[in-house]
Amino acid sequence: MPNTHKQNIEASRDIIRAKIGAVKPKAAIILGTGLSDLAEKIENPVAVSYADLPGFPEMTVMGHVGTVVAGRLGGVDVLAFRGRKHFYETDDAAPLKTMVRTVKALGIETLFLSNAAGSLRDSMLPGALMMITDHINLMGYNPLVGPNDDDFGPRFPPMTDAWDPILQDKLAETARAEKITLHEGIYVGFRGPSFETPAEIRMAQQIGGGAVGMSSVPDCIIARHCGLRVVGCSCITNLGAGLGDEELSHAHTLQNAKRGAADFERLVTAFVRRL
Ligand code: HPA
Repeated sequence: MPNTHKQNIEASRDIIRAKIGAVKPKAAIILGTGLSDLAEKIENPVAVSYADLPGFPEMTVMGHVGTVVAGRLGGVDVLAFRGRKHFYETDDAAPLKTMVRTVKALGIETLFLSNAAGSLRDSMLPGALMMITDHINLMGYNPLVGPNDDDFGPRFPPMTDAWDPILQDKLAETARAEKITLHEGIYVGFRGPSFETPAEIRMAQQIGGGAVGMSSVPDCIIARHCGLRVVGCSCITNLGAGLGDEELSHAHTLQNAKRGAADFERLVTAFVRRL
C-alpha cells in the first residue's frame, strides 16, 4: 500500500488529538447498525466528521452517521465511531484499516466492536445481547490480502485470541453485576449484502455459530494485526433466515436493534469503567 496510507493515519491521529485536547480515551468503540445512539450518552462530546479525516470511510448505509465522538462515558474517556464501512459496499479495505489503525496510533489499547446480528438459537431472541467469544470468517475475504503493511503488523498474524479472553471475562462479570443477560457465542461473518439462505443458516448452526452478521470480522482481523485487544457483542435483531417467520430487511434490523440498545448502552458504560 502506498505511503499515503500511513500519512492518512498520522494526519487523522493529529486532527483527532488536536480536537479532543485533554481527553485520553481508554477504549474505542465501533457502534454497529442501530446502536449509534450510545454516542449521545457521551458527556462533553467532541465530534469529528469522517469527512475531515483523510482516508476515513465515506458513509453510504442508512443508520450509519460517519462521525467519531470523544468524551466521557460513565466517567471514563472513550472514543466512539458512529459508522463503519462494510465489505458488501466495497472491495477496498483501506478506509476501515485507516480507521482501526488510527485507534492504535492514538495510543488506545482496547477496541470494543458491536454489531446487529441474526440469531442461530431459539433461546436468543431479538433484543438479546451475545458476547462474541470467537468468529468464523465465511466472507471469502480477508482485509489483509495484498502486500503486508509492515509498519503495522506481521504478514501472518495469529488469530488465536482474536477476541481477548481476559476482556471477555471482564465483560461477562460486568453483565452479571449489572443484571444484564449476556449470551455467549461464535459470530459467523457472511459478506452480504443478501441475507443468508435457510441452508446457509443451518450450516452456520452446524459449525458451531451463535449469530450471523456482515461486519466486525474484518475489523477484528485488522485490529489484531496491529496489536489492539478486541472485545465485543452482537445485538440480536432477528432469528436467522428460515428459523422464524419474520421478513428480513435493513429497516427491520434498524428497528429491532433499538430493542437491545438500552442494555447495550448500560453494558458498555459499565464495562469501560472496569478497564
Ligand atoms: N444476517 C446477516 N446480517 C444480519 C442479520 C442476519 O440475519 N441480522 C442483522 N444483521
